[in-house]
Amino acid sequence: MTSTEESPKPNIRPRRMRRTETIRKLVRETRLTPDRLVLPQFIVEGENVCEPIGAMPGRSRLSIDNTIKEIKEAIALGVGSFALFPHVDASKKTNDGAESLNPDNLLCRAVRTIKEVCPTACVITDIALDPYSNVGHDGIVSKQGVVLNDETVAILAKMAVVHAKAGADIVAPSDMMDGRVAAMRDALDDAGYTETAILSYTAKYASAFYGPFREALESAPVDAPNVPKDKKTYQMDPANAREAILEAMLDEAEGADIMMVKPGLPYLDIISLLRQRTDLPIAAYHVSGEYAMVKAAAKLGWLDEKECMCESLVSIARAGADIIFTYAALDYARWWRASLA
Ligand code: PBG
Repeated sequence: MTSTEESPKPNIRPRRMRRTETIRKLVRETRLTPDRLVLPQFIVEGENVCEPIGAMPGRSRLSIDNTIKEIKEAIALGVGSFALFPHVDASKKTNDGAESLNPDNLLCRAVRTIKEVCPTACVITDIALDPYSNVGHDGIVSKQGVVLNDETVAILAKMAVVHAKAGADIVAPSDMMDGRVAAMRDALDDAGYTETAILSYTAKYASAFYGPFREALESAPVDAPNVPKDKKTYQMDPANAREAILEAMLDEAEGADIMMVKPGLPYLDIISLLRQRTDLPIAAYHVSGEYAMVKAAAKLGWLDEKECMCESLVSIARAGADIIFTYAALDYARWWRASLA
């Protein structure tokens, strides 16, 4: 007797559903369309400025006029949402980030112009002090080197109103101070901005994958006495998952409209955990370091950029993210379009 006669033939053959590309598409469980992506964009003063970011090939700091061009192109490709991050001149940075409340600051001018020229664009603004901080922290740093919670939240609430007034559709606190969502919701409602939504960075981890972003904004914590060298007293410990549930419960109770997990790929378990715990939309941030890793390996010829970028983003969606912030949004939208042809 030969061995093939001994082993029974399988009557359930999952490979049948993988036989052709058409069948694979027919049974595909996760379809990531470009309208679920948010393009983060760094903004800089000036006219016709385009400053490439070293560790983020393909992404640049753009002046407002060039940002408008980028946004028009994105909208034509089916990407309609944008997260804006201003590169603030060093001369305007202070410990209390006062420039963040200036209604004519770079960010507010960008929001007004975008909403004027591209009214369908969904404009998401970041709420945290770091772009405006001369010490590179998301909150005010005391003389003793403590990042002050309640004093910072008071400023963030005002900042949310300034952004809403400029026309932001969604404000997105990325600071991880306690109680900031409730404070922002109150301030927005009191000022009459009941329709401005809050996307909370619910589970934002103290991650080393933010490196290229801090290069883009020149916003890394500065090396000085009594300035914390990292953000570990407010951003979450990468070893913790249950703590994300606590943050999620608080954000939901405080009135968040969308919850975010950040970074993306190393934290798929957290996305999946929150998906089971809330019915709110969940966003994930495929952060600068995740983008840089794929770009760098592709440049060396070690990885296939398109395949790895698409696999990263689809995996984040499969884990339960409804919305994905990614620097690869335009590339993905082009690949998506080509795949339909
Ligand atoms: C700042 C902020 C950071 C990112 C988004 N908002 C950096 C940080 O917390 O230091 C990182 C995004 C990225 O790496 O792409 N509040």
